[in-house]
Amino acid sequence: MKKTIRDIDVDKKRVLVRVDFNVPLDGGRVADDTRIRAALPTINYLRERNARVILISHLGRPKGEEKRLCMDPVADRLSQLLDMQVMKLNDCTGDVVEASLAELPEGGVAVLENSRFYPGEKQNDPGWAKRLARLADIFVNDAFGTVHRAHASTAGVAEYLPAVAGLLVENELTQLSRLTDSPAHPFVTILGGVKVSDKIGVIGRFLDFADAILIGGAMCFGFLKAEGIDVGASKVEEEAVEVAAAALAKAKGSSCRILLPVDLVVADRFDAAAETRVVAADQILDGWMGMDIGPATAAMFTDEIKKARTIFWNGPMGAFEMEPFAGGTRAVADAVASADALTVTGGGDTVAAVNKFGVAGKLDHVSTGGGAAMEFLEGKDLPGIAVLQDK
Ligand code: 3PG
Repeated sequence: MKKTIRDIDVDKKRVLVRVDFNVPLDGGRVADDTRIRAALPTINYLRERNARVILISHLGRPKGEEKRLCMDPVADRLSQLLDMQVMKLNDCTGDVVEASLAELPEGGVAVLENSRFYPGEKQNDPGWAKRLARLADIFVNDAFGTVHRAHASTAGVAEYLPAVAGLLVENELTQLSRLTDSPAHPFVTILGGVKVSDKIGVIGRFLDFADAILIGGAMCFGFLKAEGIDVGASKVEEEAVEVAAAALAKAKGSSCRILLPVDLVVADRFDAAAETRVVAADQILDGWMGMDIGPATAAMFTDEIKKARTIFWNGPMGAFEMEPFAGGTRAVADAVASADALTVTGGGDTVAAVNKFGVAGKLDHVSTGGGAAMEFLEGKDLPGIAVLQDK
């Protein structure tokens, strides 16, 4: 068990909080503030104790200082949510930052610039981490979505300051542990989405404790191809085919079933106005691509979900942002929302899907972490957690 902000004295302290404000932007504004809202309990807890709250986050994957990825829109949104003026700084370290922070009043909140503008962040450079540490008395990691990264602001800085978890990280670990600590069976995992190689490693782990793994989205094409099926122009990563073949082989000797689509919605191009057809999964037309699971697959997946007592869902079933290809993800979202089970979902696209289909409030837990939640479930060591003080 790791210490949290409740286990230490934060009164009037300068507290550096790593948050995950890596949010989608649209025209210079925050398009979805879920991750900012998720950090409010920690920010408010600290403010109520007159701490000075210094927030640091990355935003996107900038190459150097990309103006469009400055933290200003995030600081503006946070000011609205907190109903107070947040101090936005144009750097993360240095004399100017230190002088500005000296002006921050008790209960005040500052947002540092995008941590990934500085090479020291991803290199986990001790010099840069030390300069960050000069800003505060305590380090709090509340960036659950980024705890799987060993960067200066997630891990390195903890070498130089007392380091504890924030309330979001604590809640995420509690909720996700419900999936791994004696979950009720049947345990059904639903996987899809496009970041296939990121997720495929977790399948081996799920084969050890799930009863069924339902595979849709872009991920299914690696599996179909591994079964010798011609997937036409569907997107497939070669690495995914190899890992899929290994997972299918492992599943043969386990009690967990891997269910692949039996039919698909295919299109002649990646476009909402494309010509579409529903075909059997092994009948994808030459030059056409799979865009969604088909209705027979949606019905088969729904049946499995109805029987489940524990459900973990990561990754949409198709290109749901385009209406002609939203049916599979909508069917799965509705089935998960009405299941008599512990329901947990995570990952940026899946969160967008459950929000779009209006079911987020009906799930037991919607994780702010995508890759982080997967690595937690995989049983991997999470660098941003490992550095925190034990209770
Ligand atoms: C995420 O969105 O998954 C986290 O913010 C981590 O971002 P990253 O994959 O760019 O490290």
